[in-house]
Amino acid sequence: MQTISKKDIPEELTVTIEKLSNLGLGIAKIDGYVIFIEGACPGDTARIRIGKKNKNYAFAKVLEVIKPSDHRTTPFCPMQKICGACQLQFIDYDYQLELKKEIVIDTMHSICGNDNIEVRDVIPSPQTKEYRHKIQYPVSETKDSKRILAGYYRQNSHEIVNIKYCPVQPAYCDEIIEFIRRKASECKVSGYTEKIHTGDLRHIVIRTSQYNNKSLVILVMNSKKLLDKYKLLAEKIFTELENIAGVGINYNDNKTNLILGEKTEILFGDDYIEEKLCDKIFKIGAKTFFQVNPSSADNIFKYIKEYIHKNYKSPVILDAYAGITAFGISLADIAQKVVSVEEVKESVSLAKEIAKENGLANLEINHMDAGKFFEQEVQNGRRYDITILDPPRKGCSRESLDYALKLTKSDIIYVSCNPATLARDLKYLMEKGCKAEFIQPFDMFPHTYHIENVAILHIGN
Ligand SMILES: C[S@@+](CC[C@H](N)C(=O)[O-])C[C@H]1O[C@@H](n2cnc3c(N)ncnc32)[C@H](O)[C@@H]1O
Repeated sequence: MQTISKKDIPEELTVTIEKLSNLGLGIAKIDGYVIFIEGACPGDTARIRIGKKNKNYAFAKVLEVIKPSDHRTTPFCPMQKICGACQLQFIDYDYQLELKKEIVIDTMHSICGNDNIEVRDVIPSPQTKEYRHKIQYPVSETKDSKRILAGYYRQNSHEIVNIKYCPVQPAYCDEIIEFIRRKASECKVSGYTEKIHTGDLRHIVIRTSQYNNKSLVILVMNSKKLLDKYKLLAEKIFTELENIAGVGINYNDNKTNLILGEKTEILFGDDYIEEKLCDKIFKIGAKTFFQVNPSSADNIFKYIKEYIHKNYKSPVILDAYAGITAFGISLADIAQKVVSVEEVKESVSLAKEIAKENGLANLEINHMDAGKFFEQEVQNGRRYDITILDPPRKGCSRESLDYALKLTKSDIIYVSCNPATLARDLKYLMEKGCKAEFIQPFDMFPHTYHIENVAILHIGN
């Protein structure tokens, strides 16, 4: 219960941090009034300065850690405080996992209103460094010397931190980025200036395979058409660097925060990299969704496969929001039939290629909006033993959940990268009679507040 109003909260005060918020901020409470504190670890006693105040909560920054939590550690990246990407690197890894589990429990309590769902211990990422296999660096240039800048945005800003070394991504990516910094200037390719929408190179997107270390490099240009200088830069990347699977140009001259424009043209090499998961080789393109941490993704695929293998004999499975049909393809050998649905054409084409190369005859891959597909399946009277739902961060619509319930005979396996929308959707499914068996969290994004969850639900009919 809050018994204090915002005007009574002093500008500076000493607090003890109780918890971590779902966005990785430390939480302290003063008579029920909540303060979210950047860079604070549960267990810290710290002097803080209050920033923006609202009726029930405020934001604050740490002025001084008076008594550090036992779980504070020295970040292994020298840029941790400046770059906004690894918010939790100052907390030891085991404690990060405990905190993430707590975040899932708290979210289930506050949004789903349910304290009875078993939340299991977080399965750690097999790698805590060099795990991030997809990189999207915004690019700009210095005002006077026109040097290319590429890196992540400083926290809460669009100012680029020029990152030369990032320990959470494969070291080879640093080399590729450094090469592009030098060669772009030589090729007269300028960096983008967001404020006035001028310049050439807006983003560098790299996907690197954990399986064979090859990289697909996409240069996002502020242009509608291919210029000779872009082609020259792409050629240099492909011919002068080793292990480059392909190099392409994406055209994006819109005033938008979206990284990729509609059209991508591969100028040299392949339009995909290969990745090995559950003993199968997958193809991943520039526009296809794929988890950034392949070894942790592999853990999820194996976990779900084991669960299904243990509980079903030859089930019929629906893989919805399928991407490159990674679930469907990895489950095909223990299923009677797998049907998948995905709306991105490039992902569907790659999935069909992989299915064909692996001779998977019991796989049906559909290119369609999942909601429309569900509706069509209900009308056709087709039903599935298991439905896997792996929607984007916004979760599923109520309509889609209603259809999923009608389509599924036994289990819904809900895979989610957003505990808040997972909790909302579980609440709805449970109101409709589903029983949530357990939630298994996986750490896909070490040192960040993000957490991936697999929820197992039984249909109540
Ligand atoms: C979180 S990803 C999961 C992909 C895949 N299950 C995997 O693990 O690689 C969500 C996928 O849903 C797709 N998607 C988003 N909205 C969709 C919709 N309305 N209908 C079909 N697919 C959709 C996205 O393109 C993306 O591939």
